[in-house]
This record gives sequence, structure tokens and C-alpha cells, in this order.
Amino acid sequence: MKVLVIGSGAREHALCRSLSLDPAVTALHCAPGNAGIAEAAELHPVDALDGAAVAGLARELGADLVVVGPEAPLVAGVADAVRDAGVPCFGPSKEAALLEGSKAFAKDVMAGAGVPTARSYVCTTAAEVDEALDAFGAPYVVKDDGLAAGKGVVVTSDIEQAREHARACGRVVIEEFLDGPEVSLFAVTDGETVVPLRPAQDFKRALDGDEGPNTGGMGAYSPLPWADPKLVDEVLDTVLRPTVDELRRRGTPFAGLLYAGLAITSRGVRVIEFNARFGDPETQVVLARLETPLAGVLLAAANGTLADLPPLRWSDDAAVTVVIASHNYPDTPRTGDPIVGLDAVAAHDAPHAYVLHAGTRREGDAVVSAGGRVLSVTATGADLTQARERAYTAVSRISLDGSQHRTDIAERAAE
Ligand code: AMP
Ligand code: GLY
Repeated sequence: MKVLVIGSGAREHALCRSLSLDPAVTALHCAPGNAGIAEAAELHPVDALDGAAVAGLARELGADLVVVGPEAPLVAGVADAVRDAGVPCFGPSKEAALLEGSKAFAKDVMAGAGVPTARSYVCTTAAEVDEALDAFGAPYVVKDDGLAAGKGVVVTSDIEQAREHARACGRVVIEEFLDGPEVSLFAVTDGETVVPLRPAQDFKRALDGDEGPNTGGMGAYSPLPWADPKLVDEVLDTVLRPTVDELRRRGTPFAGLLYAGLAITSRGVRVIEFNARFGDPETQVVLARLETPLAGVLLAAANGTLADLPPLRWSDDAAVTVVIASHNYPDTPRTGDPIVGLDAVAAHDAPHAYVLHAGTRREGDAVVSAGGRVLSVTATGADLTQARERAYTAVSRISLDGSQHRTDIAERAAE
């Protein structure tokens, strides 16, 4: 099977790594990719947002499957362009991807499907904003309606900051504050059958102890030893299946990866957000534990044959990933700094620990930073303690001037 992966982050590197380990995959391509993905796949300098160009590349390569990684191309309709060109594609249509592309649309789908979520108002004027902030009280949760690369949400007790974010965004969703630990649960679906993966936890804040600004995600781990073993079944029944059924009922079936971001509150599970693609960095730890070869799973979702797929097989290992981000992330990050120590990880820590690249590019013989999140250092172990130790040992071998990472990923869960 020839597979083309679209995107250039650590999530796409994790997808490429798993696909390269799948014996059914005979050729692996990625566009545009990064310096790390180049070691697993042949790179093509094609704009991920250009549906015609991606579809053209897929045809030219004779791809049997295209996997669209990030949300922006999905919301732009790239999966539709690929399918229109006759190539099977893993990733929802433009219309179904609105589940991530518009928070207001997601709320409407959840209301229709009876899915538990925070109460909310969609606001466009200052008066509506004030009314909603007043109705819920502090802490205030203000969300940009559109895509914002993980930075559209402000949670604050400062009403001026809440108002200012609403002003800057234009159209916002203001909602009640949800208390309790967060869980990310992914499901692969063909629009009808829904196959949940294993839950993971992401660390959204920039600094240790969940301090600092929201980011795209600074680390993740799986499994969640503290979670109720019935959680996956419960979320499948109350969130994932009803949402997939609702989108099919509306005539815009969702096929691809449905990501449920959940809060485990004292009153039960509530959806914080949906995404229309694999999460980053959670994918790094979820795929590290998946033993079923990946390509067949994604192809079955693309072809509408998930019902025929045998149950997924999972490793009992734990997995931890630690993100190394560049100087000044999540504000305007500094790029172009050389990354040292990648060879040392490969020499000393493989196969249990490995480096997945996010924002990197090759410059002559060097690999340099090229984005906010630069690397996602991933490790497996018999338990979270061992996986953490391995991940942080590998992190300690890497140097990148001015870089930052959290030192407490999976720490409490390991205890
Ligand atoms: P989102 O992009 O919707 O996932 O929001 C980013 C982060 O903001 C989430 O992972 C939560 O940590 C936080 N957040 C979003 N919505 C809420 C809410 N209703 N209550 C509390 N925290 C929230
Ligand atoms: N890790 C959060 C996300 O992928 O949106």
C-alpha cells in the first residue's frame, strides 16, 4: 500500500513512524513534512492547504491512501479534493470538519445529539458578551468561534481580559467553567462504525504546575491509571456514537478521527471541545501503544469498512511524550536555532525512547528549529514511571538554545 501523509508536525511524524512499521505499507510519502519525517518518508514540497495540489500529488504517486493530519487542510476541504480525484482519504469532509472549525457549530451538533457539554452562548456584540459573562460568573471561559491553533481559548477570572479576548475575536462562544481533570479520547470512524482508541492526557499550559498561557500541548501520557475503567465505554455511548449519528443524520457524515476533549467533572463527563483530527501531542503516546498495524485501520475508515475490522490490539506499556518548544513559545517563537543531541538519543535510548520532530528543518548538515513546538520526545516503559524516566533522559541529551519544556509531564499520574 502506498500512503501519503499531509502535514508537518510531530503528529504527522508519529503517524509516519507507525505507518513505516506496518508491513502492508510499501511506500510512504509526506507533504510537506519536516527534517525528522524525512527519515521515514519521501518528502514533497506541496502546500498542505492546496487541495488541487495534494490531490494531484496523490494521483501522481499512485497513492492508495492519503492521511490528512492537521485541521486547517480539513477545514479547507483538502480531503474532499483527494476523494474527488478518486483516492481514498482518511479525514473528514469540509462540512464535517466544521465540528472543529466552528465552536458554535460543534455546540449545535452536541445539542442535537444530546451530548453533555458546558452550557454556552454564542456572542457577537459587547452587550451579548457582558450578559453571558455575567450569567456564568468567574472563572470566565471565552472561545474564538473559528480555528486558532490551540490559542483561541482564554480562561480567566479577570473580566477585562475576558472582554478583551471577546473583542479581539469578534464572534465567540462563552461558556460555563468546567472543573475536573481533562481526558482526550480519540475514535476512528467511517461515519457509521466508531472505534475508540485509548485515552490520553495532554498538558495544555506552558509551565510546570499548569501555570502560564495555553499552548497547543506541552506533553502527554497514556494510559490514565486514575481514570474509571468504564470511561471509554461511557464516552462511546454518550458522546462519540451520538455525535457520529447526528452528523450522518444531517447529511454530513464524519469519517476520520473524532477527537473528544473531555472534562471529568463532579457532575459527570462533559465535552470541552471536538477536533476533527488526531491530537498533538496525544497521538504520539496513543500510537506508541497501538499494536494493530495502522494503515489497515485508517484505510478501513476511509473505505467505510470499519465494521469488518477485528478489535484493535494494544500494548500494556505506558507511553510519555515531552514537548521541547522554542524560545518565547507560545508567543512569536524564535526559529533557526541548531538542535544538538538527536544522534545521542538514537545511539543510547532507542528503541524505547525516540524523538519525533514538530517544527524542524534541515540546514546543510544541521537540523534547526522552525516552529513553536520543535520536538516531541517520546518513550515507552513498563509503567509511567519508567516511560517518564526514559523520556526525560532523552530530553536531557538534547540542546536547543533558549528552549523550554515542562518537567512534570505524567508526574502525578506516575505517583
Ligand atoms: P479548547 O481549545 O476548547 O480545548 O480549550 C483549550 C483549553 O482551555 C482546554 O483544554 C481547557 O483546559 C480550557 N477550557 C476550555 N473550555 C473550558 C471550560 N468550559 N472550562 C474550563 N476550562 C476550559
Ligand atoms: N493537544 C490538543 C490538540 O491537539 O488540540
